[in-house]
Amino acid sequence: MPAPLQNDSFLRACWRQPTEHTPIWLMRQAGRYLPEYQRSRAKAGSFMGLATNPDYATEVTLQPLARFALDAAILFSDILTVPDAMGLGLSFEAGEGPRFAHPVRDEAAVKALQAPDLNKLRYVFDAVAQIRRSLNGRVPLIGFAGSPFTLACYMVEGAGSDDYRQIKSMLYARPDLLHRILAVNADAVAAYLNAQIEAGAQAVMLFDSWGGVLGHRAFEAFSLAYTRRVLAQLQREHAGQAIPRIVFTKGGGQWLEQIAASGADVVGLDWTCDLGKARLRVDDRVALQGNLDPMVLFAPPEAVAAEARAVLDSFGPPQRADGRCGGHVFNLGHGISQHTPTEHVAALVEAVHTHSAKLRAQG
Ligand code: CP3
Repeated sequence: MPAPLQNDSFLRACWRQPTEHTPIWLMRQAGRYLPEYQRSRAKAGSFMGLATNPDYATEVTLQPLARFALDAAILFSDILTVPDAMGLGLSFEAGEGPRFAHPVRDEAAVKALQAPDLNKLRYVFDAVAQIRRSLNGRVPLIGFAGSPFTLACYMVEGAGSDDYRQIKSMLYARPDLLHRILAVNADAVAAYLNAQIEAGAQAVMLFDSWGGVLGHRAFEAFSLAYTRRVLAQLQREHAGQAIPRIVFTKGGGQWLEQIAASGADVVGLDWTCDLGKARLRVDDRVALQGNLDPMVLFAPPEAVAAEARAVLDSFGPPQRADGRCGGHVFNLGHGISQHTPTEHVAALVEAVHTHSAKLRAQG
């Protein structure tokens, strides 16, 4: 039997239930800004050396929790493990981003694409189970995957991109090929997330990091439609516990209502939206996650705290006058920068907990 949760504030906020303070975790909270991560990475030899070894993945997942009073852990892995298991040949060169040896560019490559054998991703599920045991109920563990569209960006471009020329060429010239990639990705991601849930993930998050580069109609047809296809296949609960689903589309604020109606329980927002206005738009039908600009963390601690308070004030007290409750999970609007000073992260977590408790006392 897994240990009962000692801090369930993150899950409660996802379900729009009252909490004593606003829970906080940070996208990319385990990573290069932590010197202890750099040491683990040097021992393991590479990023994939860390991710494919459940002992290392556990060690690195727990590192930010040892320093900061974060309210959730996120599995240490990467969104690109799924296309890697499809045989595309992932590598991370030092100082560069990810690269695929076999990008999916022509009709033959698209036809050959298949959802991976989940046994190739066994290391991820083993890591989830081991992290749960090590957390021992301290905070919940979030599992994750890339959205079908964001994965397709890397699979077609073969690497990160500034203009998304390859994938957009396919989108406009051969939409049938892109639809086939997205259908394979959606079914692969759903099976992958269900296996993470079976292994012990207590919430799941879809990273649609590049959905925001799409045109308005294309976003619905090529990103959101396949996010829905993933969510529709996910198991809703495990071991008697409901599993919240978070959908984060960077640059997706203009489609907030549509994303909120996709089957997501929580919608992640970047820093370009006003959280209070976003809350009014969804009328607390979903919880919201976000949305501090990660670059705020380069200002002095007092300025970090002031910006964090402004985000909390914008959302307002979760409990409403009419008795209903909203949900806010504090986060950055995108991943934390590798150059972030760790003391500023400590100031952020402290400010979010203190100020959000005060807001509730006043409200
Ligand atoms: O949030 C966490 O702490 C969990 C771990 C996690 C990683 N990647 C570890 C990682 C998560 C959730 C991701 C998601 C991810 N990966 C996304 C979606 C979120 C986002 O940032 O938009 C994307 C687009 C990727 C793809 C990816 N992986 C890139 C572009 C890079 C290289 C550049 C960069 O930003 O680091 C990676 C490598 C990667 N994934 C690192 C980490 C800690 C750095 C690897 C290293 O040690 O060199």
